[in-house]
Amino acid sequence: MKIAMIGSGYVGLVSGACFADFGHDVVCVDKDPAKIESLLAGKMPIYEPGLEGLVASNVRAGRLSFSTDLPSSVADADAVFIAVGTPSRRGDGFADLSYVRDAAREIGESIAKRCVVVTKSTVPVGTGDEVEKIIRQTAPEAEFEVVSNPEFLREGAAIGDFKRPDRIVVGTEVEWARDYMREIYQPLFLNESPILFVSRRTSEVIKYAANAFLATKITFINEMADLCEKVGANVQDVSRGIGLDGRIGSKFLHAGPGYGGSCFPKDTLALMKTAQDHEAPLQIVEAVVRVNDLRKRAMARKVIAAMGGDVEGKRIAMLGLTFKPNTDDMRDAPAIVIAQGLIDAGAEVIAYDPEGMEAARSLMPGVIMAEGAYQALQDADCAVIVTEWDVFRALALPRVLGTMRGNTLVDLRNIYKPEQMKAAGFNYVSVGR
Ligand code: UDX
Repeated sequence: MKIAMIGSGYVGLVSGACFADFGHDVVCVDKDPAKIESLLAGKMPIYEPGLEGLVASNVRAGRLSFSTDLPSSVADADAVFIAVGTPSRRGDGFADLSYVRDAAREIGESIAKRCVVVTKSTVPVGTGDEVEKIIRQTAPEAEFEVVSNPEFLREGAAIGDFKRPDRIVVGTEVEWARDYMREIYQPLFLNESPILFVSRRTSEVIKYAANAFLATKITFINEMADLCEKVGANVQDVSRGIGLDGRIGSKFLHAGPGYGGSCFPKDTLALMKTAQDHEAPLQIVEAVVRVNDLRKRAMARKVIAAMGGDVEGKRIAMLGLTFKPNTDDMRDAPAIVIAQGLIDAGAEVIAYDPEGMEAARSLMPGVIMAEGAYQALQDADCAVIVTEWDVFRALALPRVLGTMRGNTLVDLRNIYKPEQMKAAGFNYVSVGR
């Protein structure tokens, strides 16, 4: 199959490289010449474990290329994937579809043979219809089907998720388009990954429903953690105790500082807005969005409380800034809100993150960036673990205490054991324990 991937960001690049690895002939297209140039030079625009090697080997094999030339890439393709961004629109929280519409228009201008046009971008229900209309207006005679095929990739584990998916969702009711999609994903059927054929609108809803459900699970356990703290229970044991029930499942029940990232915050918000527009408000999702928003600032108050209620003039070391480990992504990271809360209370915040500091510099202008964990901890009155990077899981505790001025450690990811930390001499505070 010849595949054109429109948009060489996170989703486009990972999907394009994986499709090439399946043996398809893939061109990843992007409007940004600097991005394409750096990709041609073998430099990845994002940090994703395994991606650089996967790209390099498929480029060498002649199956993967990069281009700014959308028209000729589309003209040649059996499948055109739309993998452009759908950020939150400023002001109202709806998904901004301008990049999707631009891509549809350009596809319409270049389409030259029978093909499927596949939306991988996360788009509100009904967008497939709109994409179809735009292409049809520009290319009335063209033979194409617009298919929804959402991605379920986790940053940091995206290649594994792509190659061993729990399921593949394909939204189209047209048989030849289903055959095309079967062929594209053929190698995965050998891994026995289930493929779910549904209507286009259903597929669009599945994507948002999946993310909203996962966000709900996290928010549920976060509130349970607050309750556990008040009543002297242990949220980790609660998670195990409920998670072993197969109907609940043990994953996504880690209490923490609230979910962040490029997907959950914007997708829950967009889903909430779409549902309101259709007069079917999703009150549970609305509560999740509200509770998660409030939680980030509440984490700053938790740190302040651990310090006896006052952090004026105190030096606070933040370990981990990205919204989760193994990514350099700072989008909607709880660390941003937590740091601001501490600065507002008069603290000096110094931070270290293994991959996220470049992005953090512009998002957290009031925060001093350190070269390493121990440099951040130097003379700190308090340390806060915000992201559970592996390098923070095995800190040399006596050295930490020797480096810090104070002994308060707030562990927002529960990566240490309370007894162990107490025995080591810390004033240790964690989440829901
Ligand atoms: C998510 C979905 O998992 C993926 O299927 C979708 O396609 C895109 O959004 P991602 O944003 O990469 O992927 O991150 P994920 O690993 O799901 O974590 C999201 C946030 O939830 C992080 O801030 C993480 O720290 C938090 N989280 C996750 C918890 O606080 N507790 C948990 O138990 C799980």
